[in-house]
Amino acid sequence: MPDSVPRIVVEPPGPRARELVEEDSSVISPSYVRFYPLVVDRAEGSLLYDVDGNVFIDMNAGLAVMAVGHCHPEVVAAIREQAGRLLHYSNTDFYYKISVEVAKKLVQISPGTSPKKVYFGNSGAEAVEAALKLSRWSTRRQYIIAFIGAFHGRTFGALSLTASKPVQRAGFSPLLPGVVHVPYPYAYRCPFGAPPDDPEECAQRTLAFMEDWVFHRYVPPEEVAAIVFEPIQGEGGYVVPPDSFIPGLRKLADEHGILLVDDEIQSGMGRTGRWWAIEHWGVEPDIMTSAKALGGGLPLGAMVARSEIMGWPGGSHASTFGGNPVSCAASLATMRIIEREGLVERARDLGEKVMKRLNEMKEEHDMIGDVRGKGLMIGVELVKDRETRKPAKKEASEVMMRAWKSGVAVITAGLSTIRIAPPLNIPEEYLFKALDIIEEKISEVEGGR
Ligand SMILES: Cc1ncc(COP(=O)(O)O)c(C=O)c1O
Repeated sequence: MPDSVPRIVVEPPGPRARELVEEDSSVISPSYVRFYPLVVDRAEGSLLYDVDGNVFIDMNAGLAVMAVGHCHPEVVAAIREQAGRLLHYSNTDFYYKISVEVAKKLVQISPGTSPKKVYFGNSGAEAVEAALKLSRWSTRRQYIIAFIGAFHGRTFGALSLTASKPVQRAGFSPLLPGVVHVPYPYAYRCPFGAPPDDPEECAQRTLAFMEDWVFHRYVPPEEVAAIVFEPIQGEGGYVVPPDSFIPGLRKLADEHGILLVDDEIQSGMGRTGRWWAIEHWGVEPDIMTSAKALGGGLPLGAMVARSEIMGWPGGSHASTFGGNPVSCAASLATMRIIEREGLVERARDLGEKVMKRLNEMKEEHDMIGDVRGKGLMIGVELVKDRETRKPAKKEASEVMMRAWKSGVAVITAGLSTIRIAPPLNIPEEYLFKALDIIEEKISEVEGGR
């Protein structure tokens, strides 16, 4: 472990990074996002080492994946052990034990008390596809309600629900028919005009819109299979809904026999200070999706559904690699570490300290319009002007770039939100050092330097 972090020895991107980026662009699809030219050579705990010898504090956790930090020795050992025993034997067609163990654990920690079963895929999008198919199969209804600002993945079914940036959809239509998007109660910018200091009014207007304008005017609720939502919007800008919203959705769904599908792919696995973000509102979904942190760094996606609705027959849905034994070993080790080290509670407590620090920062910097989050899933929305709340898009990107050049790997979400999503076991000193650097960059950008 280096004496002082972050440590920048060559201004990034250094020569080796530039060379690799050039090579990459000659053979890799240009459709990837790529926030900045960070070329990671290795990673350990909450630190990233680039190919030029720079050391960064990781505030991204490899996009909300590395909950217990990079290359945790126990996860690596579990992967090695499993790799020497069984790499693959299509769980679609045969049986092995470790996927059953992960499924049992998932059922045990999943929200609510109903008996549940698990479907395994390899990614978030595959978990969402499974949820879509099961919703239609079990209800024999065709419509799906999703939210503007949502991100559920990029395969055709999942993409049909995704609505956080036009580029994600441009050129790919027609998408899945029967998907209807409604606004999400983004209280800081309430689509229904409620004032930002009255989030519950925003939630009530959103729910009333769904009932009065959508269900009473053009989408027959008895033909709606599912309402799919993120309990905290991720790519949409780390948007936390008002407290009455998710219980309100549950009520609306129950009134019309609609399934509630909770996408916990980014917010789950302890990140928000509960195993699953929906637990903050005491609601049990009918179907939940998980991926990202679930696989401990290896590809794994899961859909957890009430057993009652998992009646689909053999052959109706499956995938060759879903529930791969090595991914399952990494997953079990990750869940064991999260439990043993109390990382869910740590995310909650540390998240409170981070929110306090960020709210103090907000007092000092007019560019910070809103600070919101739960646990270690926190968004800092930058604005050009607090009155108009005009998004400071360029400025957010500038803060991100400058932070990276100074050794803090952090990215944006939504239009102009800095997202804080480090490993759940990040040492406090690194976390607060990273926040100091982010604040310094906000000052520089605010001062036009
Ligand atoms: C909430 C949510 N759902 C689904 C996905 C898609 O997951 P994947 O990229 O593994 O397909 C993501 C990825 O960012 C996500 O944040």
